[in-house]
Amino acid sequence: MNPFTYAYPVKTYFGKGAAAQSLPGELAKVGPNVLLAYGGGSIKRNGVYTQLTQLLEAAGKTIVDFSGIMSNPTYEKVQEGARLAREKKIDFILAVGGGSVIDCCKIVSAQALLDEDIWDYEYSKKQVPSQFIPMGAVVTAFGTGAEMNNGAVITHEAKKSKSPLTGSYYRFAILDPAYTLTMPLEQVISGAFDSLSHCMETYLGNPRTVNLSDEINEACQRNIIRNIRQTLKDPQDIEARSELVWAAAMAENGILKIGKQGDFQCHMLEHQLGAYTNCNHGRGLAVLHPVLYRHYLPSAAAQFARLATNVWQIPAEGKNQEALAEAFLEKLAAFIKEIGLPTNFRELGIPANTDLKAVADTTILTGGCCKAFSREELLQVLEECK
Ligand code: NZQ
Ligand code: ZN
Repeated sequence: MNPFTYAYPVKTYFGKGAAAQSLPGELAKVGPNVLLAYGGGSIKRNGVYTQLTQLLEAAGKTIVDFSGIMSNPTYEKVQEGARLAREKKIDFILAVGGGSVIDCCKIVSAQALLDEDIWDYEYSKKQVPSQFIPMGAVVTAFGTGAEMNNGAVITHEAKKSKSPLTGSYYRFAILDPAYTLTMPLEQVISGAFDSLSHCMETYLGNPRTVNLSDEINEACQRNIIRNIRQTLKDPQDIEARSELVWAAAMAENGILKIGKQGDFQCHMLEHQLGAYTNCNHGRGLAVLHPVLYRHYLPSAAAQFARLATNVWQIPAEGKNQEALAEAFLEKLAAFIKEIGLPTNFRELGIPANTDLKAVADTTILTGGCCKAFSREELLQVLEECK
């Protein structure tokens, strides 16, 4: 185990009716002007907007809408939110949506109180912000676990970069699985696969000996796989949905990362692919994972073999470590196909003329836990995904 300090700042309210139960108390602690941030309008169609505005009004708040936060939120949108927050003297931000809204607000909350450009501040000056407008999150699309951490993934279109920025933690997160039942099934599966990816990326980190975090991680992976299958049988199964929503949070609330440094090379590659193509995050990961992981052999054979037996329940009899690692890779690829996720760039809808070399050349190299990639090999991975 690596040495660690563990404390957790996000108070989590989970379950049916969590917003009505928790918001009055939480809103009583904050000032009168609330920025209500959301995406393209799903919350207006499914009634969540009405419920939340009623709760905000009952608490005597002045509501300022910040709408239209797009999937893969942009730096420009962050600036729009920060301007609005300053102009309207916002005391509190309520972010309502999936990873995109939740991430965008983490940086709005910092940029609104920072006199300089946050991208330069973090990337050129290598500083991290320390002052934030307080925030709460209401999750309507699960998968990223973004409500649980203070990292945000922002697309800077002018710089052709989709990159992590450090923002604020949420004071609280409301996870009502019923709020997610109106998500399109495609997004449900893509989100759940993202959670599985977070587990795998963490599992493949350093140190590479198994610790308690890894054993909890294996349980999370088994749970996600089982509940994806159950959700495909019955998309409205609230028990399966509840498990998936909590598993997504578990993958990002730090517990699986205790005593470990994550790998996350697949994420960095997918983010940069997103910068060039605006592809859906979970679907992009589905294409990249099996191809990238094949390049992790032989270095990751021991971890892959453990995933084969402990997560995918592949019988170990008669198989050496290499055969088990191979069986894991095949099983992962077959599962991605089984659950209807894309298996190549064509199915993902990426234009054939996408500049894959530029993607490989601008991807953050994580230093590699299982493997340190060269840009040439990353390009090879991308070519193999076509
Ligand atoms: O915009 P609206 O109309 O709300 O529609 C959204 C959006 O189109 C829709 N949706 C959300 N809740 C719904 C709903 N539709 C019907 N009913 C509901 N209840 O779902 C669509 C996708 O939403 P989005 O937030 O974009 O998806 P997701 O949660 O997958 O977030 C993706 C973003 O999170 C980043 C990704 O890179 C991407 O930018 N990530 C953030 C992470 C973090 N901060 O920890 C970790 C992840 O690895 C990831 O990188
Ligand atoms: Zn992810």
